[in-house]
Amino acid sequence: MQYEDLIVDVQGKVALIRLNRPKALNALNDRMMDELGDALRKFDADPAIGCIVLTGSERAFAAGADIAAMADYTYVDTYRDNYITRNWEHILRVRKPVIGAVAGYALGGGCELAMMCDFLIAADNAKFGQPEIKVGVTPGAGGTQRLPRTIGKSKAMDLLLTARTIDAAEAERIGLVSRVVPAEMLLEEAMTAAATIADMPTSVAMMIKDAVNRAFETTLTEGVNYERRLFQSAFGTPAQKEGMHAFLEKRLPKFDGL
Ligand code: HXC
Repeated sequence: MQYEDLIVDVQGKVALIRLNRPKALNALNDRMMDELGDALRKFDADPAIGCIVLTGSERAFAAGADIAAMADYTYVDTYRDNYITRNWEHILRVRKPVIGAVAGYALGGGCELAMMCDFLIAADNAKFGQPEIKVGVTPGAGGTQRLPRTIGKSKAMDLLLTARTIDAAEAERIGLVSRVVPAEMLLEEAMTAAATIADMPTSVAMMIKDAVNRAFETTLTEGVNYERRLFQSAFGTPAQKEGMHAFLEKRLPKFDGL
């Protein structure tokens, strides 16, 4: 796949998507978001892929939505064109696991895009923030909703209202990211985690992702019921037979294509 603002690569069962507008610190514009949607859709549909890694450059995951592109938008432009729902939310429809590997700035829409990944691994130089208020807008891609669900109301209000930026250590402490590694190790760490996931039965990884996401959309009772149905349905998959029998036979399971 060839793109203008992305570099994509496949390593084994892992697809790597790199945001690539280095001169603008990967500011997210329409073309890049269209391309990202296209790449995500294709990898999600590809049976040879078990996990996707989304990353940026060493200096920036993404420094936000493209302010130069947005500055003269009118309300009618944004409403009529359904900005940003139109091409920012493809990532939410991806059913396979997506790891965000964040180095440098993840600000505004960049932080929101990162939060749409399933989990985040950060380089020790990563910086997160929602500085939209400084350019006179609210977050528009879930920042006011996903941030408090992830780090709690007080921290989220602090970041959203003061526009302050936090470093990787603080992001890990408050649960925004799952791991922090030295910057030069970021990609290796993320690709290894992705390969581990891709070696699991993809159908079951997809069920787990589905169930965890349900936790944010429903009551505990409904969520646990949903999980139980998925658990029961797992007994209809070849992965369950292979996984449990491999354990009993004291051998490694073979989940290829499952
Ligand atoms: C467009 C951007 C950009 C952005 C950086 N650039 N962020 N262009 N949109 N969001 C461009 C700069 O204009 C500059 O281009 C080049 O990238 C390098 O940036 P500098 O500012 O020179 O770098 P530095 O001094 O190191 O500062 C880095 C920075 C700063 C702290 C990240 O660039 C910054 O504050 N950026 C804006 C962050 C922000 O406000 N994000 C939220 C945007 S609103 P030139 O051509 O001058 O070299 C948003 C709304 C989302 O995201 C709502 C949902 C869609």
